Amino acid sequence: MQVEGHNAIFVGGASGMALATAEAFAEKGGKVAILDLPKSDGAAVAERLGGTFFPVDVTDFEGTEAVLKAAIEALGSVHFLCNTAGGGIQQRTIGKDGPHPLDGFQKVIDLNLIATFNISRLVAFEMAKNEPNEDGERGVIINTASIAAFEGQIGQVAYSAAKGGIAAMSLTMARDLGGVGIRVMAIAPSLFSTGLTKGATDEMVAPLLKDAAFPKRMGRPYEYARMAIAIYETAMMNGGTLRIDAGQRFAPR
Ligand SMILES: NC(=O)c1ccc[n+]([C@@H]2O[C@H](COP(=O)([O-])OP(=O)(O)OC[C@H]3O[C@@H](n4cnc5c(N)ncnc54)[C@H](O)[C@@H]3O)[C@@H](O)[C@H]2O)c1
Repeated sequence: MQVEGHNAIFVGGASGMALATAEAFAEKGGKVAILDLPKSDGAAVAERLGGTFFPVDVTDFEGTEAVLKAAIEALGSVHFLCNTAGGGIQQRTIGKDGPHPLDGFQKVIDLNLIATFNISRLVAFEMAKNEPNEDGERGVIINTASIAAFEGQIGQVAYSAAKGGIAAMSLTMARDLGGVGIRVMAIAPSLFSTGLTKGATDEMVAPLLKDAAFPKRMGRPYEYARMAIAIYETAMMNGGTLRIDAGQRFAPR
């Protein structure tokens, strides 16, 4: 897929990895819609990139449907979905006061897994209406997992389950959508310098990076963006989860 003249939706696009990808997409001549929480910097980001901001809370599943409809109407069509909205909690399977509360587990699954599937299914339905390019492609979906999908640390059980679900969906969704020329990939980052982690010093994060091969630093949002754009432009990339992790394998803690 070529970026120029194409339209994209960035969910979580006001910050971090989706923001960097939106910047790269706009720079290459694509049109962007930024979807993020109302309190985010989405409006300023969209203005800077010549796009439009659509406030949304992705855990409001019905509300998300209406917001996506408005975003796709404004864009005219959608070729690319990059979805990073997500997050986790720290809670072990059992604690001193009892078992892991189910509502906390459910919230993490809702925010990461159910919202990702909700957005993917709704956007894919619209992508399927695009005219295919010469390779038969109609669209690309990139969802965001984590290396915790594969090596969750102590206290990450809900997050690992949610991100594992996102990784597992890639191949099945790619198979579901292959007939209409839509590709699906997930990216699984290690620790990246975004949002909450942006202000952390090298000393603060050193213990979290000790198991990386090289480089022993946090990832930078543009590194995610480069990978996302490479996926978009490379038709053979489909149905998998790509780690972007400096060879890191999380230890139990
Ligand atoms: N940064 C890391 O170290 C790291 C590592 C692995 C995976 N991830 C995953 O990357 C994603 C976060 O991306 P980032 O690191 O660029 O963080 P970020 O905080 O810079 O950006 C995430 C954006 O998502 C938005 N968002 C959060 N909840 C939302 C909701 N309910 N509805 C709409 N928007 C919402 C936030 O407002 C924010 O702008 C998450 O899925 C996270 O699990 C991050």
